[in-house]
Amino acid sequence: MTSHSAVFVTGGTGLVGRHAVSALRRAGCRVTMLMRRHPDEPLPTDVRVVQGDLVRASELTRHLRGHEVVLHAGGSIGGARSRRSLRAVFVEGTLRLLAAAEHQCVRRFVHVGSLSVLEPGPNGCLESESAMRKPTAMLPDYVRAKIDAELAIDNVRARGGLEVVVVRPGVVLGEGDRTTTPLLLRALAHPFAFGIGTGANLIPCVAAEELGDALARAVTEPGLASLCVYVTSSERITQRSLLEWHAAAAGLPMPRMWLPPGLAERAARVLEAAYGCVGAAPPVTRLAAAVGATDLHVVPGEPESRIGWRGTGSCRDAVRRAVAYSMARARRLKHDKLYSRWEPLGSGGRP
Ligand SMILES: NC(=O)c1ccc[n+]([C@@H]2O[C@H](COP(=O)([O-])OP(=O)(O)OC[C@H]3O[C@@H](n4cnc5c(N)ncnc54)[C@H](OP(=O)(O)O)[C@@H]3O)[C@@H](O)[C@H]2O)c1
Repeated sequence: MTSHSAVFVTGGTGLVGRHAVSALRRAGCRVTMLMRRHPDEPLPTDVRVVQGDLVRASELTRHLRGHEVVLHAGGSIGGARSRRSLRAVFVEGTLRLLAAAEHQCVRRFVHVGSLSVLEPGPNGCLESESAMRKPTAMLPDYVRAKIDAELAIDNVRARGGLEVVVVRPGVVLGEGDRTTTPLLLRALAHPFAFGIGTGANLIPCVAAEELGDALARAVTEPGLASLCVYVTSSERITQRSLLEWHAAAAGLPMPRMWLPPGLAERAARVLEAAYGCVGAAPPVTRLAAAVGATDLHVVPGEPESRIGWRGTGSCRDAVRRAVAYSMARARRLKHDKLYSRWEPLGSGGRP
């Protein structure tokens, strides 16, 4: 693979994909983006765009012709989505893309996975050898869909032919976030905002720009067949610090209630169902409650050194950028009434 490779990117308008596209362009790659609709922000002029949807794309094989690498960052996690719609994009969409890549003899498939598919060891440790979780009914639908997508990828890897690199990031923070930061701001703005446990649990995170850089390395580094890389910041970030950074950047109060994890999960279930009935975005989802309660410690290993990446950027700065983007976007779209509690606070809140 060279830095001039032709790269086909899914999800290029999303948080992960947009930073990956920037890093790939900086690295000199020729980028084609699959897009299902025109984005609400301008696109770089040197990027080729093809229209299509991972869920119903019949033209994927044709679109992939002439590309050496596929970078698969498509699929949205925000909002309360049904199991069916999550599977349609994350599992069936991935299968469709893999089939098209094999058909067109693409050389490498870089998949954006998730740490949530892994079974933590003692003390919440995630290491290179950590096994995948069993996809039980107890897991959130998103996690089950991500596990099944990785199992499909394993099958293709076992057949040989296609180099497969799986990049598993922590919670991604930064400009372009339509999921985590908007959700945390909605939660903090809610009169019954709550934290989970004591808030001292560790949540692996990464700044979106740094993830973009890691993905560009996963695309361009030679000789990376069959690699799984964990991409998380070297900072130790707790649930409480994530909430504090968001509260400070948006000028919102910290939660006054701290619920035990089981109760928080039940509260999230009730809120998700209640808000779903009226078609509104809930202040907390079951997935967010599950992520908020995790206590994980990622141990970097040999795979990370093979792409030459080290997460040293500041996640607090990434949160500031995410909050500024969220507030500007909410003002522009003016569709989410729950933002009105913090919108009048002005541009950007406290530094
Ligand atoms: N964000 C995180 O903290 C995080 C952490 C770990 C792993 N990940 C993984 O990273 C990937 C991207 O997440 P993200 O945070 O960037 O999500 P995002 O900001 O919601 O972006 C999702 C992207 O996928 C596109 N997309 C969604 N459904 C599609 C479909 N049916 N066909 C074609 N494109 C579709 C979206 O297009 P539109 O612009 O048209 O909506 C958008 O470009 C996912 O696989 C996710 O599991 C994310």
